[in-house]
Amino acid sequence: MKKSANNPARSLSKETEALLNNQIMMEGKSSAQYLSMASWCESKGYEISSQFLYKHSEEERMHMLKLFGYVNGAGGHALQPEIKGIQHTFKSLREVFDHVLEHELAVTASINNLVDHTLKNKDFATFNFLQWYVNEQREEEIIARRAVELFELIGEDGVGLFMIDQEIGKLEQFGQKMSGGGAA
Ligand code: FEO
Repeated sequence: MKKSANNPARSLSKETEALLNNQIMMEGKSSAQYLSMASWCESKGYEISSQFLYKHSEEERMHMLKLFGYVNGAGGHALQPEIKGIQHTFKSLREVFDHVLEHELAVTASINNLVDHTLKNKDFATFNFLQWYVNEQREEEIIARRAVELFELIGEDGVGLFMIDQEIGKLEQFGQKMSGGGAA
């Protein structure tokens, strides 16, 4: 069936569709950036951090695909984003996780902006769909803050970095516990 702005089957406004496509771009960029971080960690011997980031990259792709399904199902057109500006090298493991936190805070701000937009426009279906992301971001922020905190708690001297790498493997469990069960 042909879809247009006048199609009664279409539930998304063009503006909401554009904002959702922007979110698709953010999730796609997250997936690519985490993949790049995973590769850097692997090349430096941070094995556990690398596994964590490879898995996280997959999760971000899933976040993106979930949006694809919603946008197309609501009569819009989900667009494969151009991914540019990926950082490939890092000064330290600490820099990697500082970036993770910074990035997740930006994703949360973008989700909040989208939620605000749907409420103002009385698009309750999209508002409801986005609640999954609101919960997911709560958990992702807990994990990212904990990762950065590990550098302060353990310290990077001596076997510190090795221990931090080991602790990164427990982050997901920590995030689920501290967010009340997890969103995924
Ligand atoms: Fe899907 Fe980590 O934002």
